[in-house]
Amino acid sequence: MTPFAEKLLTWYAASGRDLPWRRTRDPYRIWLSEIILQQTRIAQGTAYWERFVERFPTVGDLAAASEDEVLLLWQGLGYYSRARNLHAAARQIVSLGAFPSTLEGIRALKGVGDYTAAAIGSFAFDIPAAVVDGNVYRVLSRIYGIDTPVGTTAAKKRFTALAQSLLPPERPGDFNQAMMDFGATACTPQNPDCPHCPFAGECVALRAGRVTSLPVKKAGPAIRERRFTYIYFRCEGMTAIHRRGAGDIWQGLWEPYLIEGAPNRLPNDGKITPIRTGVRHQLTHQTLYADLYLCETAVRPDLPPEYIWIPESALSDYALPRLIHNLLEQA
Ligand code: ADE
Repeated sequence: MTPFAEKLLTWYAASGRDLPWRRTRDPYRIWLSEIILQQTRIAQGTAYWERFVERFPTVGDLAAASEDEVLLLWQGLGYYSRARNLHAAARQIVSLGAFPSTLEGIRALKGVGDYTAAAIGSFAFDIPAAVVDGNVYRVLSRIYGIDTPVGTTAAKKRFTALAQSLLPPERPGDFNQAMMDFGATACTPQNPDCPHCPFAGECVALRAGRVTSLPVKKAGPAIRERRFTYIYFRCEGMTAIHRRGAGDIWQGLWEPYLIEGAPNRLPNDGKITPIRTGVRHQLTHQTLYADLYLCETAVRPDLPPEYIWIPESALSDYALPRLIHNLLEQA
């Protein structure tokens, strides 16, 4: 075993986290945890994982559910294409007859990339494949003083080769979990715990005073700004919503009447009150500025055909983007 792996595994034995998906070898449950953890932090992710496992104890149960039910359980995690992929992959697995047990087979599941395939493969099947993500870039760039900008193909190649060369084939799962924990709790982006670090003696970044400047980041893509004005109609206990279509954010989720861009006029049929205005909502590549108005009216306004009227009490049956959920709590 490399000295690096020995130190890391010793650290992990003493300081690793006890997480529920580490107590199983069931590839389905491990896969579920990895998809959820792509999207959120441990604390929130654990609650979602427990709900998913309880509602869908086996991959067959998940495959048999409707997409809407999966979206509803996913609600609040954001990035709903992940939930749709999760559901599609469950059906893929069922039609395969068993969870795939090779790296290529796992990688062929919808929504599974190199990182997730290596994680599932090593945790469930002891496949000696190193995980490489932001945590791993940070840990290795600091200890080995690598300044290849992350997010480039060159970085992916370099860090993958290095991580793979450090991974002990006899304990790939523990090594990968240890890397994740070490990056998440010790070698953190801000205020890493260098005084207690087992690599303090050899860490190039620590010696050179470059801990905060590594890893080197590449400039990100431009962020697009959009303005959304929502009208929440209330007409005899009913409200109007529509389902968002393909090719844009929040595909398949529901929302109230939307005017995108600067509205030239608000509806004047009924009483209109601002509920929340100027709410900023950050997505990966878009910043949204949203206003929500309540329009109380005795007659249903003429809305485009994609809008449906539902009892307000039934809103919780529809998967809503988190922004809308938050805005409506005020209504
Ligand atoms: N992040 C992604 N996968 C993880 C795992 N298995 N344990 C902890 N954090 C993670």
